[in-house]
Amino acid sequence: MLLRVVALLFLPLAICESASAQMRGHGGPVRAVAVAPDGTSAVSGSFDTSAIRWSLSRNAAEQVLRFHESAVNAVAFLKDGQTVTGGEDGRIAIWKLGGPAPQRTFEGHTAPIVALAVAPDGETIASASWDRTIRLWPVAGGTPRVLEGHSQNVNGVAFTADGRSLVSAGYDATVRIWPLSGNAAPVIATLPSALNAIAVAPDGEIIASGANGRLYFVSAKGETIGELEITETPVISLSLSPDGARIAAAGIRGSVAIIDRKARTIERTLVGPGLPVWSVAFFPDNRTLLTGGTDRMVRRWNATTGEHVGAVPLNDVSDPLAAYAGDRGAEIYRACIACHTLSPDAGNRAGPTLAGIFGRRIATLPGYSFSEALKKLDIVWTPETVSKLFEIGPNAYTPGTKMPEQTIGSAEDRRALMEFLKKATAGK
Ligand code: HEC
Repeated sequence: MLLRVVALLFLPLAICESASAQMRGHGGPVRAVAVAPDGTSAVSGSFDTSAIRWSLSRNAAEQVLRFHESAVNAVAFLKDGQTVTGGEDGRIAIWKLGGPAPQRTFEGHTAPIVALAVAPDGETIASASWDRTIRLWPVAGGTPRVLEGHSQNVNGVAFTADGRSLVSAGYDATVRIWPLSGNAAPVIATLPSALNAIAVAPDGEIIASGANGRLYFVSAKGETIGELEITETPVISLSLSPDGARIAAAGIRGSVAIIDRKARTIERTLVGPGLPVWSVAFFPDNRTLLTGGTDRMVRRWNATTGEHVGAVPLNDVSDPLAAYAGDRGAEIYRACIACHTLSPDAGNRAGPTLAGIFGRRIATLPGYSFSEALKKLDIVWTPETVSKLFEIGPNAYTPGTKMPEQTIGSAEDRRALMEFLKKATAGK
């Protein structure tokens, strides 16, 4: 229920940047984040219905993934760098880098998907749904196996390190350990609280987080072997460092606790911008943490010091907007910079370069793969039409666009942005 309430409360906010503005790409709260096993890229899913693939080395948005009809609740990396997204619409999509549309989609769940996990061999995707089932989908396609038994929404799934079992957690306050070969019944551990998320350590220990703000430690055999109070409000997202030493647990009220798993103690709590956090994911270095939250940003933290490292993408070493210091329009433009560049040499990011945008007909820049829907629209970009685009929002003005929904509520800010774009994109 939690997720629906928040989704309803979300109103499109004006793009409002302070002088120290960070970069962003999403038009709504970030609901899910995942880091690639090699640490070079990340994917985020948002209530704005899009997912974004980020290059962590180039500090830019590489691809906007649009397919889901409503919030993208879960994201993960497959082998070979492909990504998978799961939505409130009950659908799953598999994406190849650079492909404009999903490579493959899976349908079957009759309620929102809220968590995804990928088997260690990369060949199976597990999805947890509010239809009370878990489905195991062969990545190559084919009929999924359906795991039934939870008497309430399933909120979390994870594979054990050996790939031989799947663990799940749900609102019915149970952790279930499903053997993946044979037909043996799952082992069921009943805990004192409804459960929101689950993770499995390399040594087999299971960690489940509760709506009562506690973490529960469960053995591979299903015995409850420990618990730890984190906050008084629900813990909604968990991530385990790849070496199994640390747990990051995000609470609905905004704190992110970093836990020493073996000692079962809280090492520190992250404080800083961007809270509350909806989703957490460790980097392969076991110490950097990625978070996605209500402020629509994807942020990096150092889990060993608790310090905020910056938004993703981080500011380039040379700030391309340095020449426009103090310009209000340039500050507004920071909301665009993750996906667009201002000069032809800088090329395209997830969106086409805006160099020479005024006077250009929509979806005509050579070398960029625009959505088909945009090519049919009769729009020439001028300060008036670009301003309109962000007054009523890309979905309304350019239906079928991949650009995440975002509006700039203040007429003055739209005017400042247009003045800036005139200066920064002209004659290029
Ligand atoms: C998360 C990425 C992202 C962000 C942030 C973003 N855009 Fe876009 N934008 C895109 C994508 C992707 C397209 C191409 C849409 C398509 O083909 O469906 C696009 C298209 C456009 C176009 C049409 C270009 C053309 O040649 O037809 C304009 C104009 C534009 N964006 C302006 C902006 C401005 C101004 C901002 C900031 C206020 C912004 N965008 C923020 C991703 C983004």
